Amino acid sequence: MPKIVNDAASRPALTDSAFHAGDPYPHYREWRRDSPLFWDEHGEFWVVTRHADIVAMSSDPQRFCSKKGILPADVERGVAEHTSIIFMDPPRHRGFRKLVQPGLAMRRIADLEPWIRQMTRELLNEMPSEGSVEFVEALAIPLPIWVIARLLGIPAKDHEKFRVWSDAAIEAATKITSDNAILLAEMINYLAVYIERRRSDPGNDLISALVGADVDGQQLHDQELVMFCLTLLVAGNETTRNLLSAGALALSTHPTERRALAADPSGIPVAVEEMLRWESPIVSFMRTATQDLELRGQKIRAGERLLMVYAAANRDEEVFGEDAESFVPTRHPNPHLTFGIGEHFCLGANLARLEARICFEELLSRHPDFELCGEPQRLQSTLVRGLTELPLSFGS
Ligand code: HEM
Repeated sequence: MPKIVNDAASRPALTDSAFHAGDPYPHYREWRRDSPLFWDEHGEFWVVTRHADIVAMSSDPQRFCSKKGILPADVERGVAEHTSIIFMDPPRHRGFRKLVQPGLAMRRIADLEPWIRQMTRELLNEMPSEGSVEFVEALAIPLPIWVIARLLGIPAKDHEKFRVWSDAAIEAATKITSDNAILLAEMINYLAVYIERRRSDPGNDLISALVGADVDGQQLHDQELVMFCLTLLVAGNETTRNLLSAGALALSTHPTERRALAADPSGIPVAVEEMLRWESPIVSFMRTATQDLELRGQKIRAGERLLMVYAAANRDEEVFGEDAESFVPTRHPNPHLTFGIGEHFCLGANLARLEARICFEELLSRHPDFELCGEPQRLQSTLVRGLTELPLSFGS
């Protein structure tokens, strides 16, 4: 079969942030139907849009590796396996995951519930009980940052500093500048000192758990620990922020479903899964073929990159049925790919789900009738689908 190519005239560029900030879903639908695997000339990668293909690729690190990077930008800047779990392949990846996974296990995360609820209430207390609020700045940004800081055991007095560092880490993940590099170095020093302290004086936090982790005599050394904390910040912050704001937007524009959830909050965990499916905060991640292979009748050469578009697969009609394009907060089962799948399945999924559940339980119990009261502003990014502004009104 000849290579199906994205000719610039007929298909928008996946490397264009305006495409992602607009309404990409009709294009995804067309691609899934007509060319589920095509070569994008702008980005020089294959584009994978079907659910089944992403599941197969994510479960096969021997043929589709992560060590060459998982973002299109990683090709230019180059990445190294030792800098993050996210770039590791087996066998190194499996060993590393075994060491860090218990630190993020359900039990430890569940212990955070009272604290997350209290933080959410404090943030809601600061909002007017009637009138308008900009939800992203007021809740969606601060909550995930504080939660990660708390998870790591960072003292409350340093949380604001942590927020500045974390913004710099997110920015540096796509483009390193002299400003964000200075802030990043500051944070790395801070973490290194903190880890050292935890070695001699462990507490009940994730860093202490990681410092003490031992699997078959293998332990994490300080540099690995610092890089893992950095990964948590980058991976868990903006993603959760955009889950919270996309969920609030979906509920504000679906009043019947919102009222049903406010009347019966036991449906919120299932609704959170639909929020995750509906607007995947991570649009796509990449893999590199380690050998010549064939996929959907196309010849993929060793070294070629493939972009797995989770946001497209999450609306695959073959998996989600005829209403795949609709927001259905009672949808169950909901095998979305928003946290990835297989080898690198998100280690923070339990935490993100918990934060979203608490956020919507608290928000809906106070403001069952919140509404959109202005134009939401979208983030310009090719990686993250998110909002920079979400004006909501309460108590009308
Ligand atoms: C809605 C929120 C989140 C989304 C959409 C998300 C998405 C993802 C995805 C798609 C992957 C798979 C990467 C791959 O296959 O290459 C991943 C991995 C990961 N995530 Fe998340 N994530 C979220 C929240 C979090 C949080 C809160 C944390 C930590 C506190 C976190 C930590 C990680 C880590 C450490 C990995 C790497 C796992 C590995 O390489 O084995 N994530 N995430």
